[in-house]
Amino acid sequence: MISMEEVTASAPGKCILTGEHSVVYGLPALAVAIDIRAKVTVKSYENGATLIHAKQFNKKVCLPLKPDRNLTIDKDLQPIYVSVVKTLEFLKIKDGVEVLIDSSLPEASGLGSSAAVSVATVKAVSEFFGIHLKESEISTLSFESEKIVHGSPSGIDNTVSVYGGGILFKRGRILKVKTSNNIPLIIGDTLKKRSTGGMVSKVRENYLKYTAIFKPILAAIGKISLQAKKFLEASDFHKLGELMNINQALLESLGVSSIELEKLVYAAREAGAYGAKLTGAGGGGCIVALAPLARCQNIASKIIEAGGKPYITRITDTGVKIE
Ligand code: MEV
Repeated sequence: MISMEEVTASAPGKCILTGEHSVVYGLPALAVAIDIRAKVTVKSYENGATLIHAKQFNKKVCLPLKPDRNLTIDKDLQPIYVSVVKTLEFLKIKDGVEVLIDSSLPEASGLGSSAAVSVATVKAVSEFFGIHLKESEISTLSFESEKIVHGSPSGIDNTVSVYGGGILFKRGRILKVKTSNNIPLIIGDTLKKRSTGGMVSKVRENYLKYTAIFKPILAAIGKISLQAKKFLEASDFHKLGELMNINQALLESLGVSSIELEKLVYAAREAGAYGAKLTGAGGGGCIVALAPLARCQNIASKIIEAGGKPYITRITDTGVKIE
């Protein structure tokens, strides 16, 4: 198999504007790709094995090309390994690769860092061997490692990371949403890590206990996403912000908000955001605030005062790409 000297691919993180958790129950969610990316470089590795070096975890391991049942793999590196193995299997390639991960996305914080790493890994490995996979193939292969990280995810994270831009996602079906990229998104990280799988299970337990109450809440969130799509397309950020605030209240009722998240949400709103809510699985992780450019710095300062770490970012149309 002919291969290049090295190939670097990158993929964006994602931010769910409306509809996390309800998307797991087959309802629509609205998400955008954000301009914070994970980069993956692939080169040849002679020993017929996979060498994974993940800078964000400060970890480096050498693993066999074919996993056997007795293999124990570091939890942080397992999804990256699965992305490599699944891609090589799909391409029917038996050569070793070295994979260097360099991600600017905070881990386990709701911004789709694991999906971005996995998507960029699939792209970099396949292009290293000169094979151009379709976007849908990259998404399907990266979803394999997402299932290992998150249990039973909806697939929204890997989808947004592959395609970029705005996406209305429902049961694996995607509708591209036209967005203005000029609107800044202010992310506030509580710096409290949490597991998406754990939060999804928590909602599931409550859902089974209070099904008659939870069903209409989830359905209302689904309706929010359909309306939010229209406001995003029309650049009506006032109304989109209002819907984000309503969504936050409903997420609170599902049991996935936290005191740290609420502090950042209120800090952003009081500093002039159109709207603010948790983004991703909740329980910790990040909030997203929508605001006019002039108010961004003030909102970022208030997020710091409230104990969080701000990122001012934008929607990006660029999904996975070769650097
Ligand atoms: C993941 O970013 C958000 C959740 O809706 C889980 C999922 O969609 O897989 C909580």
